[in-house]
Amino acid sequence: MAQSRPDAAPWWRSAVIYQVYVRSFADGDGDGTGDLAGVRARLPYLAELGVDALWFTPWYVSPLKDGGYDVADYRAIDPAFGTLAEAEKLIAEAGELGIRTIVDIVPNHVSDQHPWFRAAREAGPGSPERALFHFRPGRGPDGALPPNDWPSEFVGSTDPVWTRLPDGEWYLHLFTPEQPDLNWAHPAVRQEHEDILRFWFERGVAGVRIDSAALLAKDPELPDLASAPDPHPYVDRDELHDIYRSWRAVADAYDGVFVGEVWLPDAERFARYLRPDELHTAFNFSFLSCPWDAERLRTSIDTTLAEHAPVGAPATWVLCNHDVTRTVTRYGRADTGFDFATKAFGTPTDLALGTRRARAAALLSLALPGSVYLYQGEELGLPEADIPLDRIQDPMHARSGGTDPGRDGCRVPLPWGAEEPYAGFGAQAEPWLPQPEGWAAYAADRQADDPGSMLTLYRRAIALRPEFGDGPLTWLPSSDGVLAFARASGALCVVNLSDTPADLPAHTELLLFSAPLDADGRLPQDTAVWLRA
Ligand code: NOJ
Repeated sequence: MAQSRPDAAPWWRSAVIYQVYVRSFADGDGDGTGDLAGVRARLPYLAELGVDALWFTPWYVSPLKDGGYDVADYRAIDPAFGTLAEAEKLIAEAGELGIRTIVDIVPNHVSDQHPWFRAAREAGPGSPERALFHFRPGRGPDGALPPNDWPSEFVGSTDPVWTRLPDGEWYLHLFTPEQPDLNWAHPAVRQEHEDILRFWFERGVAGVRIDSAALLAKDPELPDLASAPDPHPYVDRDELHDIYRSWRAVADAYDGVFVGEVWLPDAERFARYLRPDELHTAFNFSFLSCPWDAERLRTSIDTTLAEHAPVGAPATWVLCNHDVTRTVTRYGRADTGFDFATKAFGTPTDLALGTRRARAAALLSLALPGSVYLYQGEELGLPEADIPLDRIQDPMHARSGGTDPGRDGCRVPLPWGAEEPYAGFGAQAEPWLPQPEGWAAYAADRQADDPGSMLTLYRRAIALRPEFGDGPLTWLPSSDGVLAFARASGALCVVNLSDTPADLPAHTELLLFSAPLDADGRLPQDTAVWLRA
């Protein structure tokens, strides 16, 4: 494992972290589903890409009703992906290549196949087993109405967040009925999760991503949202901070790091999670959702840096993940922002334009202070895929009544070899999600030696990333629609989002560009450049 020098800034303050969605990364055993053997075989690719850490979306035993975010056993690997022994080997092998591992813990809910929930279902109303979850009688005649009015966390879903069991009691699930919410006021729930953290830190993981991190704590009365909106009965409750302080004490014993999935519009509330004795980092969804617009991006960057500064935490920069529309598709649309509420089938996109902007956005995000997350396939410039209706597996689609395309379009198995069956994902069986026509054109082997490819751009940018990393950012004077800033190393980043070519600031060296400069040495539209001052 690569160790930081004792006097050096901690690795996670400036890391490039690559998100692996195991099911779609690489299929080592040829059954159509990605697995740990596939990841192990591709570790040299990840090392060559130059990433510092891998974040694995949940790889635990799961009925996969929500892509693994329905965990039946947090201490075992799903047999479709491999074994615990293989995970240990993978963590060790990645470490030998200087790559750390981050696992994904899902504390808000478990699978309905988790032993705790199976026992609770069996044990019946009033049992101690049910106290680990939120069971309640229903309302209305015969208790036939759900206990409260909370809406589903899947935006666009009108399904209730309560399911009734044959014995008449209802249980709470902010996501699907197969994901019952845990009762975080119960000491056994806290104890169990601290043990799970230790289990994975003992296995050499360097960090933990915390799923739905702001949702765990509930108002014990479970009041209607309409009548008790403040404080919110289940979002961002103050009790959470005590939970994360205990987690931090566990992590500190292993030098482990947290990244929280915290979707909160209020910057001050968001920053509370990043106080020195809580989480180290949290995902920056304001930047991820931001349209391709210079002013709005600059505001997002400034707000992000300002909200992190008082607590001393580094920012994170994310352009996409396994839940949102792929960047090249989004940036080629009329509306270049991301919003779960506006996702729709058949939104037109200009992929050439989107790709040009995504290349510029890559250089922008990799030049910003803090850590950067890449989602597998982003480095290949993969577009969002249209999945045939009868192949969509994401519950978000069905729970929207079929109006939301769901998230499978960004989860399509990766293309590795242009000339191989299924674009080299795994030779023998058809992948679990279909790859669209033309997928092979994006294959990693085709891009590897192409100086103009997305993969080459990412490799070069990550190699130069130490010029940027953690530390201050200073905006430089620039014309409308142009973002220009300097970093302490003397490296500059300029991004032109205006419709006219932009002059470059004084510089001694051109480090990297997302598209060539024009004949007059100016920066064309939708292009980014890295310079040395
Ligand atoms: C956030 C995860 O990123 C998403 O994929 C999942 O559906 C929900 N949390 C529920 O666990």
